[in-house]
Amino acid sequence: MTPIYQTSTYWQESPGKHKGYAYARGKNPTRSALEKCLAELENAKHGLCFSSGMGAIDAVVKLLNPGDEVITGDDLYGGTYRMFTKVFAKYGIRFHFVNLTDFNAIDDCINENTKLLWIETPTNPTMQIIDIAMCAMIAKKHNIILGVDNTFAAPYLQTSLDIGADIIMHSVTKYLGGHSDVIMGALCLNDDKLYEQLAFIHNSCGATPGPMDSFLVLRGLKTLHIRMQRHCENGHDVAWFLKDHPRIDKLYWPGFADHPNHAVARTQMKDFGGMIAFTLKDASLDDTFRIASSFKVWTLAESLGGVESLVNHPATMTHASIPKEERERVGVVDNMLRLSTGIEHIDDLIEDLKQALQ
Ligand SMILES: Cc1ncc(COP(=O)(O)O)c(C=O)c1O
Repeated sequence: MTPIYQTSTYWQESPGKHKGYAYARGKNPTRSALEKCLAELENAKHGLCFSSGMGAIDAVVKLLNPGDEVITGDDLYGGTYRMFTKVFAKYGIRFHFVNLTDFNAIDDCINENTKLLWIETPTNPTMQIIDIAMCAMIAKKHNIILGVDNTFAAPYLQTSLDIGADIIMHSVTKYLGGHSDVIMGALCLNDDKLYEQLAFIHNSCGATPGPMDSFLVLRGLKTLHIRMQRHCENGHDVAWFLKDHPRIDKLYWPGFADHPNHAVARTQMKDFGGMIAFTLKDASLDDTFRIASSFKVWTLAESLGGVESLVNHPATMTHASIPKEERERVGVVDNMLRLSTGIEHIDDLIEDLKQALQ
């Protein structure tokens, strides 16, 4: 097993002469093992681990300068939206939030200041699938960096560098860690120059994770393929159970043939995952809260991607930082619930859904 190098600093034979490790903000052997492992999973040359997913996105935006512009999706994780609009906008970086399934909408925003195209796919929580290869074509043509938040898919379902992304980001907190016991982020990439810039920001700004967390993620990764397989199987069965359920209005899962981006999902993903969102028919906020609180096997909690199944109310939990009109425009309404299907026995999950939705 990889040792947990619980150390902040390392012996040096003479000043600057050491065994590759000087101070643990910059480098730690347990973290290095994890960075190498994540890079291999993403078919990347380089990996960098951060103390959270947000820390990883923060480092990418810090590649930019005041006056630079970013094109990103109008259906984003609320924390990413909050960081873009509340933290970086005031440093003179401009963000365009567009429907990324509409390539004309992307094209319309591009100008000489555009430096980053930032996409999430599948999107959180409406499960749109963004065509990574198409975005890569646009990004290459205009010399823009393409960053992909691969959190929902994990490398088991989608290796975005292989289809043209420049940087992959993960909230490692989710499927990669897999056990709801670690907060961590990661970036994986091939370009040496970009890696040097990001490693510089990583060490300079200091959002680096500790060795114990790195160890836990290394352990979690050993079962990633088995967990993902079960997440997909259970996700499939839960989605089909909900499909014609009388309490459900809209249902978002990319595995359905009538999902608007099903064909793209089939091309760029190996399977459709365990993330599902739905709206409740004729339900008020109170009705929605009552149902969200009535699960016995599923747990009402933020986050996703752990072995335990979670229910989340995006409007007041994960996406509360997005103004109501903006989130409602993309379908994140008060009567929406999001499911992260775990790896429990499918009968227990379905039974619990039945009683909660009765
Ligand atoms: C798609 C997505 N990206 C980024 C993040 C942020 O990651 P973290 O919570 O590890 O900072 C999350 C967290 O929920 C997420 O769902």
